[in-house]
Amino acid sequence: MTVHYDPFSEQTLADPASNYQRLHREAPVHYIEDHDPPFYTLSRYADVEAALQDGVTYSSEWGQGPNFTPPMGMLSNPPQHTYYRRLVQPAFTPAAIAALAPRIEALARDLLDNVADKTAFDVHDDYAFPLPVIIISELLGVPEEDIHLFKDWSDASVEAMGAEDPAPWAEKMKAMAAYQLNQIEERRAADNPPNDLITMLVKVRRDGKPLADEQLLSVINQLLVGGNETTTSLITNCVWRLLERRALWERVVADPNLIDTAIEESLRFDPPVLGLYRTTTREVTLRGVTVPENTKVMLHYAAANRDARIFPDPDVFSLDRPATRHMAFGLGVHFCLGAELARLEARLALKALIDRRPNLTLENAGERIKPFFLWGRRKLPVKAA
Ligand code: HEM
Repeated sequence: MTVHYDPFSEQTLADPASNYQRLHREAPVHYIEDHDPPFYTLSRYADVEAALQDGVTYSSEWGQGPNFTPPMGMLSNPPQHTYYRRLVQPAFTPAAIAALAPRIEALARDLLDNVADKTAFDVHDDYAFPLPVIIISELLGVPEEDIHLFKDWSDASVEAMGAEDPAPWAEKMKAMAAYQLNQIEERRAADNPPNDLITMLVKVRRDGKPLADEQLLSVINQLLVGGNETTTSLITNCVWRLLERRALWERVVADPNLIDTAIEESLRFDPPVLGLYRTTTREVTLRGVTVPENTKVMLHYAAANRDARIFPDPDVFSLDRPATRHMAFGLGVHFCLGAELARLEARLALKALIDRRPNLTLENAGERIKPFFLWGRRKLPVKAA
C-alpha cells in the first residue's frame, strides 16, 4: 500500500504528528510530487541523522527552505559557512548567554507585571512573543521603539521561506532590508557606534574589505528570524502541553527542577521547526528509493523525534523520559547557534510563570502558526484565579 502523506493538507497542518508512525513504517523516504519544486522527506531518526552528518551529499548551498535560493552567509556549506558562523559565535558562547540571564529575568517579570491583575490573558501575545524578540533585538542593537516592526517582518520572512510563490511577502522583505541597511549605514557613519552585534559585523574586514551588504543582511536576518518565532513557539508549546494535561503542570509547579525536563520533552514532542531542507549533490538510493541529484530533501526533525526505535512510547509527552537526543536544533555543523539562548529564555520564562501564576488553566489551544514547516500556537488563551 502506498502512503499518501501531504504536509500541506488541513489534517496534517492541524496535527502534523498524526502521520509520523505510518511514514516511519511504510514510507521513510517519501516523495512529495504535488509541490513546486517537488521534494522528498526523510522521517526516520537514523536517516535524518546520517543526512545531517553528510553535508557533502546533502548540501546547504541552496537554502533551508523548499525553494532553491543562492548561498548566503551561514546558509551555505563550509568554508563559507564556517567563516560566517565564527563571526557571530562570540555572542553565543556559554558565558555570553549566561550573562543575559538577569535581563531575561527582568523582562519576564515586567511582562508578567503587565498582566498581574488580569484573570485571563494570552501566553503567546502577552508573554512568549515579546520576550525573545526583545532580547535578540537588544543584542543586535535595534532601537526599542522599532522592535514592534520585527514581529510583522519576521513572520513574513518565514512565510515567504515556506511558500511556493514568495511574491506576496516581497514588499515586507524589502521594507525589512531597507530598515536594516539604514541601521548598518548609521553605524558606518558614527564616530562612536553602539556596542552591539550589528556594529561588530560592520567592523569586520575580510582581506581588508568590509562585508558586502547582502552578506551582512543575511547574517542579521538569520539571527533575527531564526531566534524569534522559534523561541516563542518553544515557550508556548511547552505551556500548552503542560496545561493540556494539568497534572503535568502541577508536577512542575510542585517541583521546578522538572522545568528543564519539560523543555527538552517539549522540544522533542513539539519541535518549533518541524523540518528543514538540504539539496542533493548526487543521486542517492536510500531504503529502496532513488533520489535524483539536485533535488530538495526535507529532513523531518519532528518525525525523527517520534521514532520508536529511539524514543519508547514516542507519542506520549512524558516528564519521566531520560535525557533525550532530540533533533529540534538540528545536528552537525549547522546545529542551532542559538540553542542555549533559546533554552535559557524558555527556562526563565517558565520559572517566572509558575512562580507568579501557578493556578493557570487552559482556555483553549488557540490555532497553529501558518508556515507548514513550523509548529507553534498563534494564541494560547489562559485563565488564572
Ligand atoms: C527553540 C528555539 C529554536 C529552534 C527550535 C531552532 C532551530 C534551529 C534548527 C533546526 C537549526 C538547524 C538548521 C539546519 O539544519 O540547517 C537552527 C540553526 C540556527 N539557529 Fe536556531 N533555533 C532556535 C533558536 C534560535 C535562536 C534563539 C537563535 C539566535 C538568536 C538561533 C539562531 C540560529 C542560527 C544562526 C542557525 C544557523 C546555524 C548554522 O547554519 O550554522 N536559533 N536553529
